[in-house]
Amino acid sequence: MIQFDTVSKLYPLGNAALSDVTFNIEDNEFVFLVGTSGAGKTTILNLILGDLYPTSGSVIVDDQDISSKKYTKLEELRKHIGVVFQDFKVLQDKDVFENVALGLRIQDLSKNKIREEVKEVLSLVGLEDKKQHFPVQLSAGELQRVAIARALCGDRRIILADEPTGNLDPKTTWDIMKIFKKIEHERTIIIATHNTDIVNSMKKRVLVLKQGKLLKDMQKGGYEL
Ligand SMILES: Nc1ncnc2c1ncn2[C@@H]1O[C@H](COP(=O)(O)OP(=O)(O)OP(=O)(O)O)[C@@H](O)[C@H]1O
Ligand SMILES: [Mg+2]
Repeated sequence: MIQFDTVSKLYPLGNAALSDVTFNIEDNEFVFLVGTSGAGKTTILNLILGDLYPTSGSVIVDDQDISSKKYTKLEELRKHIGVVFQDFKVLQDKDVFENVALGLRIQDLSKNKIREEVKEVLSLVGLEDKKQHFPVQLSAGELQRVAIARALCGDRRIILADEPTGNLDPKTTWDIMKIFKKIEHERTIIIATHNTDIVNSMKKRVLVLKQGKLLKDMQKGGYEL
């Protein structure tokens, strides 16, 4: 479970990226984070990842207060979090297989185990035929599939996606959302997005942010800009 308890994040010069934000996200929930630019979506994802610390309040992930100065197991926790970005962040000098295997290499796994697991996620995202392709040979949609496969590889219980379809056309956007749908109920999925069409048609929980405040928390929500 992910718990935000009256979380605020202030930047120098008094800029409040988040003010008193409180919510819980249960294991295996599917949640959209929405709100106009600057609302605080990326800040929330970075707080869950432990990349940022709140100025006040607490961020609890899997019963551990990661916002506490005493918390020392961030590296361990991050092994269970997969991250997907708008600009894919795949490595140009590695083929699809190696890009996906990257997260597994740092874990102590046999070559066979790695091969098996990469094969499984590549088939899930529909890229099993392209494992030897390099990023320059792939379309944007395919690059995002690689990034999602990488985020899923290993024992990732939480998937954080920051505007994952921001660089994709509408059809490819839906193909990518279908992948997230395939894995729903198996992992916690949090997607920050501006895409109202997706949010309105998927009828998932929606957290609406405005200028750092949590404006609405809707089950099966819709959203208007
Ligand atoms: N390093 C920083 N220093 C100062 N202010 C920052 C910093 N990072 C973010 N902010 C501010 O915090 C607020 C929230 O930013 P955040 O990136 O979380 O918004 P967002 O909802 O992800 O926006 P977008 O949709 O444009 O990605 C913004 O007003 C932003 O200017
Ligand atoms: Mg953002």
